[in-house]
Amino acid sequence: MSASIRIPDGFVEELKARLRPSDVIGRKVKLKKQGKEWVGLSPFTNEKSPSFYVNDQKRIFKDFSSGIGGDVISFVMETERLSFMEAVEKLADEAGMSLPKPTEQDEEAYDRRKRLYACCEAACAFFEDRLRAAEGTEAREYLEGRGLGAGAWARHRLGYAPDDWRKTIEHLKAESFGMQEILDAGLAVQKEGGGEPYDRFRGRVIFPITDIRGQVIAFGGRGLQPDAKPKYLNSNDTELFHKGRVLYRYKAAREAFGNTDEGGLIVCEGYMDAIALAEAGFGHAVAPLGTALTEDQLGLLWRAGPEPVLCFDGDAAGLRAAYRSIERALPHLEPGRSLFFCLLSEGMDPDDLIRQSGPEAMRNALEASLPLVEVLWRRERDAEAIDTPERQAGLESRLLAAAGQIRNPAVKNAYERDLKARMRDHLWQQRQARRGNAPGMKSQKPGSPPPRGAQQTGTPAKTRGLGLLVRAMENPHLIDIAFETLSMASFPDSDVAMIRDVMISWPEAEKGVDRSAIRDHLLQRGNMRAAELLESYPDIPDIAQDGPEEREWLIALEQYVAREESGPYGPAGAGGEVANSPESWRRLHHEVSERKARAARLNEAAEQADRD
Ligand code: UTP
Ligand code: MN
Repeated sequence: MSASIRIPDGFVEELKARLRPSDVIGRKVKLKKQGKEWVGLSPFTNEKSPSFYVNDQKRIFKDFSSGIGGDVISFVMETERLSFMEAVEKLADEAGMSLPKPTEQDEEAYDRRKRLYACCEAACAFFEDRLRAAEGTEAREYLEGRGLGAGAWARHRLGYAPDDWRKTIEHLKAESFGMQEILDAGLAVQKEGGGEPYDRFRGRVIFPITDIRGQVIAFGGRGLQPDAKPKYLNSNDTELFHKGRVLYRYKAAREAFGNTDEGGLIVCEGYMDAIALAEAGFGHAVAPLGTALTEDQLGLLWRAGPEPVLCFDGDAAGLRAAYRSIERALPHLEPGRSLFFCLLSEGMDPDDLIRQSGPEAMRNALEASLPLVEVLWRRERDAEAIDTPERQAGLESRLLAAAGQIRNPAVKNAYERDLKARMRDHLWQQRQARRGNAPGMKSQKPGSPPPRGAQQTGTPAKTRGLGLLVRAMENPHLIDIAFETLSMASFPDSDVAMIRDVMISWPEAEKGVDRSAIRDHLLQRGNMRAAELLESYPDIPDIAQDGPEEREWLIALEQYVAREESGPYGPAGAGGEVANSPESWRRLHHEVSERKARAARLNEAAEQADRD
């Protein structure tokens, strides 16, 4: 279908009225009638107990495990990864409705756009051909010098625009395109007030930019000389190309990524990075076109997968860019839908990293990606010293203001709790450091926060892991889901280990353990120091079940267990300086669901036994 054909008013409403949601959805999800609704297992998560509802009266579905909900159209968009138009088209077929015949104007617009597509395609083929011609020698050498051989040229359709004012125009004219078409396709430039049009791209390596269907719609061109001005030149916006709505390599990346519901595309800053990533085996890499990510681009990313990873240079400019993306993303966060950040070492882009240290180094960097909440927290924490009550209040209001931008109420709540908990943990650490518990902290200037590296050593090494335990104590469902790990973890401090032992052997621990009850118990048994340790630890706000803090805590625990012998670990538990990775989360999440399923089975068996 041509995108120039618009859907007439009322068409979508009619379409939705004709289709019964339980019919459409029932083909993908096994549904059971439950009162007025239908219920089944979420197609978006691998839940074990059904929390996916379809309501035919209201014509909507709601999936409580992922937070996704909507109508039949959004269901088809989500499950089949289609655009709105594609989903409408597909459902219209099914409903026996046909989109209206295009008007004459539609036809004209459609034909014009078709010509523009063809013009871009012809230019792309011309540039590809020129790269292999005699005049492309320098460009070939340039690409080879950057590790890209003929295979990569073909895979990414790289080309060379001749160093001439008219060659591209003349070629396209010979292919029967008119001057206006060549201008409209963005391939020629005409100075204001007329004048002879000339080739936009001259003497540059060419990167064709495609739309979501893979049709060439624009170009990026890199100068061959290090001092080329500008280094990269892009097509101007045209009828086909709006740079804020396109991601370089999007179609190829989605194909490489496939239809998994975990993780997401990798987003890097430049053409060369996206190509270097793809060539190194990360085929799901895309890049925006020299601008900060737009909302449209975020939408494209989330259509491909729930947790895209944004790569940035770890320098100040890279961090600023990361912060900008956070601002863009916050309002649109949904349960299960977020961003991760891969902050590379200073001055490095993925292309540099892969060339210097290989794909493995890139993989490691990606695995150490930080969740959005962590980067947000660091931004506010590092914005200014937090050494006075006024500044602490300032930090708190900045954190709450950030969370306040989130539209989804569940995610917003979870952020507020998480960020406040991070702040408390952090202030506690600072206080500990000031009390002189940490040998390295004594020379600390009063009034300035401990440097980042020092915050870790500022933690009394002996009580490492205590924060994780306190957090579990105050949120007993954590004990429930991580019982095994907690019982196997070894704590370097015998009093902390004692606290753990008492906690996990508390009768019906998973239903709730009271911190003061554990403290009293320790006192009664004469464990004064353990009791004191427990008493001295600051209060931690509640953690919601299945929320991001639960996930953070689980990751922190896992990493604590993995590192207990090698490195220091702060008492903060969740949200410490922990390398975080979707992988480890997935593994944990899997274990957690297993455990929950087991518990549910046991419960059922017990109830059954009760009834018998
Ligand atoms: P960078 O300057 O970070 O370049 O631009 P890079 O990708 O590392 O390029 P190499 O490695 O020097 O070849 C990142 C992106 O910003 C846009 C381009 O899209 C580029 O890929 N850009 C950059 C421009 O549009 N114009 C410029 O002059 C520079
Ligand atoms: Mn680069």
